Amino acid sequence: MNNEKIKNLISAMTLEEKIGMLHGQGFFQTRGVKRLGIPPLKMSDGPMGVRQEFPMASWAAKGDNDDYVSYFPANTALAATWNPDLSYKLGNALGAETRSRGKDVILAPGINIIRSPFCGRNFEYMSEDPYLTKKMSGPVITGIQENDVAACVKHFIANNQETKRLEVDVQMDTRTMEEIYLPAFEEALTNADSFTVMTAYNKFNGSYCCENETLLKDLLRDRFNYKGIVVSDWGACHSTVESAKAGLDIEMSVTDDFDDYYFGNPLYEAVMTGKVDQGLIDEKIYRILTIMDRLHMLDKGDPTNSPIRKSGSRNTPDHHGAALDVARESIVLLKNNNRILPLNPQDFTSIAIVGDNGDKKHSTGGGSAEIKALYEHTPLAGISSYLGGNHKITYIKGYSSEKDAGPYVAFNLREEAKRLASNHDLVIFIGGLNHDHDTEGSDRSDYKLPYQQDQLVKELSQVCETLISVHISGSAVDLTDLTTYSDALIQSWYNGMEGGRALAEVLFGQVNPSGKLPFTFASDINDYAAHSIGEFPGSSTVSYSESIFVGYRHFDSHDIDPLYPFGYGLSYTNFAYSDLNLSLKDDYLEITFTIKNTGERSGKEVCQLYTSQIHPSEPRPHKELKGFVKIDLQPGYDQVIKTKIPLRDLGFYSEISRAWITEQDKYQIFIGSSSRDIHLSGEFAL
Ligand code: BGC
Repeated sequence: MNNEKIKNLISAMTLEEKIGMLHGQGFFQTRGVKRLGIPPLKMSDGPMGVRQEFPMASWAAKGDNDDYVSYFPANTALAATWNPDLSYKLGNALGAETRSRGKDVILAPGINIIRSPFCGRNFEYMSEDPYLTKKMSGPVITGIQENDVAACVKHFIANNQETKRLEVDVQMDTRTMEEIYLPAFEEALTNADSFTVMTAYNKFNGSYCCENETLLKDLLRDRFNYKGIVVSDWGACHSTVESAKAGLDIEMSVTDDFDDYYFGNPLYEAVMTGKVDQGLIDEKIYRILTIMDRLHMLDKGDPTNSPIRKSGSRNTPDHHGAALDVARESIVLLKNNNRILPLNPQDFTSIAIVGDNGDKKHSTGGGSAEIKALYEHTPLAGISSYLGGNHKITYIKGYSSEKDAGPYVAFNLREEAKRLASNHDLVIFIGGLNHDHDTEGSDRSDYKLPYQQDQLVKELSQVCETLISVHISGSAVDLTDLTTYSDALIQSWYNGMEGGRALAEVLFGQVNPSGKLPFTFASDINDYAAHSIGEFPGSSTVSYSESIFVGYRHFDSHDIDPLYPFGYGLSYTNFAYSDLNLSLKDDYLEITFTIKNTGERSGKEVCQLYTSQIHPSEPRPHKELKGFVKIDLQPGYDQVIKTKIPLRDLGFYSEISRAWITEQDKYQIFIGSSSRDIHLSGEFAL
């Protein structure tokens, strides 16, 4: 449809019809204009799959049997793969499932920065690092949108905590926004071309994100030249005129008084009384129709009859395969004493799996990210399918995640676990968090492992010869005791429908682990910047006065040793790095180095590139991630990696110049297998 036709459609519409397209008329859709062939815009959560079906005006799920879907690994898992090809694959499968459910917009991916391990929604986000977030989220968006479905990146901006999320005022300076919180959104709304974006609940520097002119006007529209649709988070809009003028296009909310929404009757009135210009309404409608057109929703009036629009598919072997591929590459090997992993099934006949997460399904929890999964392989299911019938497998809870389980229950479960574990050849502890902790609407307040798991692991280690532990979470947790008492330790995630199978494949060596931590695991919560300055979760305001020193940027600059650093993850093989060569071109730095698999198994490695400016005129982190390459190498083979960093990426946002600048100075480059395991370094001058 050309511009002219869209404009004609707009002129044929009444104000009432326009208003119907600008706010929810059901919890997940707007109203269409039937007589003109404009369908409603239908949305669904996001991000680990397409959420179950809800009636138009009720939060009690329909309970149908045809809305089971593929359950994909959470964004933290995806980020831990450090593999953008997998992001694309996951996005593409998610987009196809969305379309197959008849939706137009999937409310995903979540790309807020992980500022504190306590944020309840970290599992829906990706990383503490803006570069990793940006590189891993862009391809998700591309993948989704190839299915004639719009992505909706969320939550713009600074929704980094759930405590008081509906009203907290996040205060940050421009540099912090530019360097840490904005880059992934900028990428999503420019290069990755996300058709929609969701504004956050919170205030940003004094005004709600839905009516924040700096965010919606100056940044989105003027600087990014963003032509897509701005949707409010559900109930995040607080005004009619201000929000309309700032640039909000569609107001969604959680109550069923749809006509009374700010963008319902009040917006109609505001136009009628001249407080909001008709032209402004038309601009919003123009944007919505343009996106509908790009999604082929207007081709024949009725999207289901459209000859062009893709119809999607769900629960295909390919989609389940995508979930499995991501899960396989997301698992992070944290510790492997005496190379006890991978396990050889021939070495034992009986195995005890201890821990609530050993047989817990996580798909149904977490808030709006809940998934009605077609199936979910728990670790127990994965391990027993992998081993088949020749092993005796006993599952023991060991601790209870029930809210009312008192000390007596805990003691009994622990005693039972010890008794049974000591009768088995092999003990695998599988614990961690669940969606009572990693959830929308609240933050954690305790950095320790819940349910006395530390005590259990300590006592288990006393009764069994070797203890393999698996920690499942969407956030960092104090793993000090788990590390101390386990011979091997694996970090896994809410890892989708195939998570249990992927875990078994890693434990038994069919898959060589290649995941790397997308955020720092500290041994003390006060080691994190936001906590060290007492600015999490704040009160009615929270000041991000740690500035750009988020995640490893803070640990490096303050010389704090993390328990497991950003980018960390072991393999069953070894890699050697050599022959670094730097060559400065007009507008980029060319980097060449060699990596060799010196071990006995094939494996994947994430080579990470960090840079540092030696004498910056304003404070800068010791290291900043500026590139990474994931390679797959057979044992004994090597590969020459040639990559580049654009010189503008070496710069920083100067509060003094109020601009991004790249200073003439000496710079260092570090190449490593984590932010702390640096194997090659070099220097160059600009
Ligand atoms: C969440 C969004 C979600 C929306 C719709 C809100 O509470 O913050 O992420 O997409 O609900 O369910």
